[in-house]
Amino acid sequence: MTTPLRLGIAGLGTVGVGVLRIIEAHGAMLTARTGRAISISAVSARSRGKDRGIDLSGYGWEDDPVALAHRSDVDIFVELMGGSDGPAKAATEAALDAGKPVVTANKAMLALHGQALAERAEAAGVPLRFEAAVAGGIPCIKALTEGLAGNAITRVSGVMNGTCNYILTRMESSGLPYADIFEEARALGYLEADPTLDVGGIDAGHKLALLAAIAFGTQVDFDGVELQGIEKVSIDDIRRAGDMGYRIKLLGEARRTEAGIEQSMRPTLVPAASPLGQLEGGTNMIVIEGDAVGQIVLRGAGAGEGPTASAVMGDVCDIARGLKLPTFGQPATSLTAAQRAHAVTECAHYIRMSLRDEPGALARVATVLGEAGISIDRMRQYDHPGADAPVLIVTHPCAPGALSSALSGVVETGVVTEDPVALQIQVPS
Ligand code: NAP
Ligand code: HSE
Repeated sequence: MTTPLRLGIAGLGTVGVGVLRIIEAHGAMLTARTGRAISISAVSARSRGKDRGIDLSGYGWEDDPVALAHRSDVDIFVELMGGSDGPAKAATEAALDAGKPVVTANKAMLALHGQALAERAEAAGVPLRFEAAVAGGIPCIKALTEGLAGNAITRVSGVMNGTCNYILTRMESSGLPYADIFEEARALGYLEADPTLDVGGIDAGHKLALLAAIAFGTQVDFDGVELQGIEKVSIDDIRRAGDMGYRIKLLGEARRTEAGIEQSMRPTLVPAASPLGQLEGGTNMIVIEGDAVGQIVLRGAGAGEGPTASAVMGDVCDIARGLKLPTFGQPATSLTAAQRAHAVTECAHYIRMSLRDEPGALARVATVLGEAGISIDRMRQYDHPGADAPVLIVTHPCAPGALSSALSGVVETGVVTEDPVALQIQVPS
């Protein structure tokens, strides 16, 4: 029998407790699958006395996660604290420098420091794994780095933030406005400590940047993600999109074009009947397109104790089996800097605007759009009790940049009473 693999787990929140539960419940199965017993030597969290619904008396304790990483009875450091910097980064670096493999669920840390950490892991000759950081329980990192390694990847897209998908689908099912459902999500404990990470699209942008690095062999480029959150999506947008056969999703998309790498995360209209359109609640979906395989769709729980711990354990088991893959699927030193390209792919747009209800207002809007070369596909004016007329326009495909300058022109006419809201309509594969 080989020696056991001894874990040090820093962070005993939702994910950390989930990992403890899997190891405690499935010890024999894990040993049978990996050929090694997997044990926990010690753990770390902020508050030692907190009741976590799990017995910790059999494990060592460290107040300081860096000390945990240094312990001689810890073979793998499992970082489940979160935060892009601070203790998570310090302890991860300490473990790697000590020649210990690291498993983390921390998308923020990897999106901002992934290149440096991957180089550090390679210099130490140890794996740094992060399956749980993207789309919770969906093994999309493994799919990209291993199963699809023979493909040139052309596009990675999907819904990567369960909280936003919950808010958007609950707004639709309840008919309640964004602010009410945001509070409901907060009460259910869905929101990150800083909710802007979720609703501002930042958390999903972190995940997209990580997937793009693997897909295209480029260094993680989170700053290259064009970000738009869901805060401005109104219940009216959801209803009107529904009238036209669409649902609104926070959709991420990374594609390689001749100009470079396009990365965007924004609320987008998708056909209601499509697999993405039918995604409910906290579920995530990752769509990968490769030149040989065509399209692969992965769907599952994007967050939560069990699903996220499942992904952490997949990485732990790979390390127990002796698998040593580079962090981003190829040596970190061979990853090229991503050449950024702005989204130029033409797509149809949904535009919501509020017009002064006076003669010629609509004509002026149509003229500005027409002069910018933007052709209107459909237009609808809704009943309105007040002085402002709510107008909905769907354009034929046009370049996003051309639309945004045309909308500035619309605002300059003075006939709109608030800034128009424009959402892209998904470009079919
Ligand atoms: P959480 O419930 O907030 O737990 C965080 C844990 O880290 C807590 O146990 C906390 O200790 C501990 N911690 C924080 N600062 C610490 C420090 N300085 N020293 C020692 N321990 C410290 O977080 P989580 O939801 O489990 O998330 C953990 C990581 O997984 C994050 O990177 C998150 O983004 C990622 N993730 C989470 C999910 C999910 O569904 N929750 C899904 C995918 C990825 P106390 O308990 O004593 O406060
Ligand atoms: N806040 C994240 C989400 C947690 O809602 O998807 C999982 O990464």
